[in-house]
Amino acid sequence: MAVPPPAVSLSFLAAAALGLVACGGAWIWARAAGDPTADPVVVAVHFGVLATLAMGVMGATHQFAPVISGRSLRSVGLARATFLAWLGASWLLPLGVATEQVAVTAVSGALAGTAVVLLAVNLAGPVAVRGKGTPVTALRVGVAGALLTGYLGTAFVADRQGTWFDLAGHVDLAMGVLGLFGWLGVTYIGVAEKLWPMFMLAHVPGRHLAGRLAVWGVAGGVALLTPGLGWGIPQLAWPGAGIAAAGLAAHLVSLGAHVRHRQRRADLHLVFVLTSASWLVAGAGLALAAALTVPADHRAGMALAAGAMAAFGGWLLEALVGHAHKVVPFVVWSALRSRGIDQGPGGRPLMFGDLYDHPTAGATYGLVTAGIAALGTGLAGSFPVATAIGGALLAATGLVVAANLSVVPVRMLAAGTVTMAGPPDGGRRADATVASAAGAAEAAGPVEAEPPAGDTGGTGNGSGTGPGQRASR
Ligand code: HEM
Repeated sequence: MAVPPPAVSLSFLAAAALGLVACGGAWIWARAAGDPTADPVVVAVHFGVLATLAMGVMGATHQFAPVISGRSLRSVGLARATFLAWLGASWLLPLGVATEQVAVTAVSGALAGTAVVLLAVNLAGPVAVRGKGTPVTALRVGVAGALLTGYLGTAFVADRQGTWFDLAGHVDLAMGVLGLFGWLGVTYIGVAEKLWPMFMLAHVPGRHLAGRLAVWGVAGGVALLTPGLGWGIPQLAWPGAGIAAAGLAAHLVSLGAHVRHRQRRADLHLVFVLTSASWLVAGAGLALAAALTVPADHRAGMALAAGAMAAFGGWLLEALVGHAHKVVPFVVWSALRSRGIDQGPGGRPLMFGDLYDHPTAGATYGLVTAGIAALGTGLAGSFPVATAIGGALLAATGLVVAANLSVVPVRMLAAGTVTMAGPPDGGRRADATVASAAGAAEAAGPVEAEPPAGDTGGTGNGSGTGPGQRASR
């Protein structure tokens, strides 16, 4: 099965960390914007949603789509082209808005439209696969969401050239809902259904309806809520919000089932995932408060809506940072092994957990959690100081996570802890091993278990079938 080489998914994830630094800086700049639809806010929002969240989700999509579906991407070259186009789109939009260069925003719109088409073409094979359950359904919905969001974004950018239609706050909000839930959220929900069983060593018995309801509920809810918000039709918006909320509740029920049935003891990944889920609850509460406040006090209601968007973004950000601490070490581990580097400290076999510093990972959790809390409070309550603190903490998160996940591997490469004479097949086997990133290999876990003995094909049920994979509780 062809998956992109490690450099592809790592490029997306490294760019996402850089995007988070820019997002944090932009929030400091936008702290006193007052109006949540003001340009500085648009800048900060898009460094967050495009350069950070969408970049990270796209990296995960390229990495896991072949594993989840059992079918290859169309081409690695397309994956690289998608990365470059999205990198351009996600930075040029906020930079163009910040510098008031409409031509630059126009280029970003064209690049965004290109990137989502490339993504869809590359994933056409994997998402067409039948009978692979909820994760593939979610990928399918996610790709459709990416196309719609990309083209709505392009229309918004086009509007900046001549103000052809009225982009009121509720229209902007429609884009936020479509992008955050109809693309990024639903993709995360589906991929999590595949990753949680492996990362938590959890086998949920039965047909596990909650995961399926989560994907269909969010997709169906967004399909009503987006036009309901965009065209101001409450008869669509309210049922849409209710169905989406039910889908998100099903996602939480599914998380609860995985946590109950897990065989791995509580670790930092679990803390990240549970905290991420709590942002979803906070976001739902703030969104409801916003909807009830807007008719009486438009300004306060819009501030609450901005706080809700920050909390929903926090749901995905916390999950992204948490999962990066699992996924990046695995991908890097495979890449190091392909270069013959297979020894960890003390000469024992290299393990995923050797590839980053664990206290620093704990500090990263503190930074990102406090950053989301401060930003959400700052936006919902119109407290510029809290918004700026949130921005600073998020920028620090981006720097720390990038450094923590890269310094050790780079040092190892420089020191060349080589015990084998390099890969006999030019590294193809390592790429195949990367293909099983979501397989039982990862279930071996970063800290306490042995790394995988080889490619497990990524087709296991993720309940951890290999040696050394069961951790004590
Ligand atoms: C995950 C994808 C996306 C999400 C979650 C998202 C979210 C949002 C939100 C919440 C706003 C309102 C911001 C505010 O009023 O302060 C907005 C506005 C805007 N978005 Fe996006 N967006 C996404 C993708 C895109 C893309 C791909 C483009 C174009 C390249 C784009 C271009 C714009 C523009 C130009 C505005 C400002 C519209 C105006 O003048 O009021 N967005 N977006």
